[in-house]
Amino acid sequence: MALLRHFLISLFTIIIIISFVACNSNLQEDPLITTYVDDSPSNDDADTLLFKNFINQNTNNILRFDATSRSLEIVNVNDYGAKGNGYTDDTQAFKKAWEVVCSSGEAIFVVPEDNNYLLKPIRFSGPCKSNITVQISGSLEASDDRSDYSEDQRHWLIFHNVQKLLVNGGGTINGKGSIWWKNSCKRNKKKPCKDAPTALTFDNCEDLIVENLKIENAQQIHVSFQDSINVKASDLNVSSPEDSPNTDGIHVTNTQNIKISSSIIGTGDDCISIVHGSKNVEATNITCGPGHGISIGSLGAGKSKEFVSEVTVNGAKISGTKNGVRIKTWPGGSGSATNIKFLNIEMDNVTNPIIIDQNYCDKKKKPCKKSDSAVQISNVLYQNIIGKSASDVAVKFDCSEKFPCKEIALENIDLQYDEGEDAKALCNSVELFYTGHVTPRCYS
Ligand SMILES: *[C@@H]1O[C@H](CO)[C@@H](O)[C@H](O)[C@H]1NC(C)=O
Ligand SMILES: *[C@@H]1O[C@H](CO)[C@@H](O)[C@H](O)[C@H]1NC(C)=O
Ligand SMILES: *[C@@H]1O[C@H](CO)[C@@H](O)[C@H](O)[C@H]1NC(C)=O
Ligand SMILES: *[C@@H]1O[C@H](CO)[C@@H](O)[C@H](O)[C@H]1NC(C)=O
Repeated sequence: MALLRHFLISLFTIIIIISFVACNSNLQEDPLITTYVDDSPSNDDADTLLFKNFINQNTNNILRFDATSRSLEIVNVNDYGAKGNGYTDDTQAFKKAWEVVCSSGEAIFVVPEDNNYLLKPIRFSGPCKSNITVQISGSLEASDDRSDYSEDQRHWLIFHNVQKLLVNGGGTINGKGSIWWKNSCKRNKKKPCKDAPTALTFDNCEDLIVENLKIENAQQIHVSFQDSINVKASDLNVSSPEDSPNTDGIHVTNTQNIKISSSIIGTGDDCISIVHGSKNVEATNITCGPGHGISIGSLGAGKSKEFVSEVTVNGAKISGTKNGVRIKTWPGGSGSATNIKFLNIEMDNVTNPIIIDQNYCDKKKKPCKKSDSAVQISNVLYQNIIGKSASDVAVKFDCSEKFPCKEIALENIDLQYDEGEDAKALCNSVELFYTGHVTPRCYS
């Protein structure tokens, strides 16, 4: 099968090259657009799909190289010694394959389907010679021997300093987190509070696309985008048990221009968390729950000065979560969270559907003290938010007395308490504007 596929791919490549050389010398489309075509999944069987992807990649390759350059290199981890049997350590094979991909011209790093690759922590570092596609169709499984993480306790798989990277393939990334959850101080009060690894980290990446992957049972955070710029993440399924501690779904930190879309996230912590240094963040068509909802912050922990701005969540279904859309900041911090929009959101069985908490503190770590400073929250729009609250307080604005929340606008809000009673709004130190039907409202 693999051989046949290879042959067909080569054949098609040649045909395509010939047709390009013969009849097309001025097809100079924007390479970014042609590279990152949206191969939306169809009902074709997986082999056909894979094949189509390869053809697509080959075609793109030719467009980019104007039909004169070498062909796309396909680097299959199995050719570098990976076994994919679920118990042999495939770490070295993946590292070798990455070295090859990263130093090649256009190349695809292929993790074939129907295999389970057992992996210790790996750092996929750039910069690489050219654009890279990482096509994960099989399963990646984390080593659950914690001593394997002694060099770097914070990461399992990390892409560091890679530009123009596309990661896709429909496969699964499994952090095998249960050993870490058991040892978390949130589960076991006698254990020290230590960080566990993030399953998949993108650090210092630029022009990144991550799509069509399943990420499950992370040791701690599932996917983290940090210090990156121009990111598209879509069609991600992120899941872990509701009682798994600190397992944020998608975490965004110090990243600008990021769009997260069409993803289904249910974990033990925030579905999406957006923290310091993030700007121009858009989340659309998100299904969230169980977990703690979509959160901006926490910001300002340890008296830090932190900023988040231009965040839009547009189109989300949030159900069975502790919070719906939340902004949380620690007393004693400074900086700001501003220009934030929560639009078109459906809530079901959500304990705190709309919440701003400026008196947040993780009580297990530090006592919550009153303070003279706070992260300034301003210009937040809540529009078209409907559904059911699991508690009688559906809207809660608990802002700082010294730094009240400013320009908080509510438009077309209808949140009911599950039990058929009217829901309430609790408001402290907040400047509110109402438009259209808004229920519940603060009366003060
Ligand atoms: C990689 O892609 C970018 C944008 O799609 C393009 O500008 C660049 O030329 C490509 N690099 C190579 C080596 O093909
Ligand atoms: C994500 O979940 C949806 C709905 O359950 C499913 O159709 C899709 O194939 C899943 N995608 C991946 C990459 O697992
Ligand atoms: C929204 O996301 C779901 C789940 O990922 C997907 O099946 C659906 O096609 C998306 N809808 C749009 C309009 O993108
Ligand atoms: C509501 O959500 C909680 C989790 O927060 C879940 O345990 C419970 O079963 C849900 N109830 C309904 C009626 O869906």
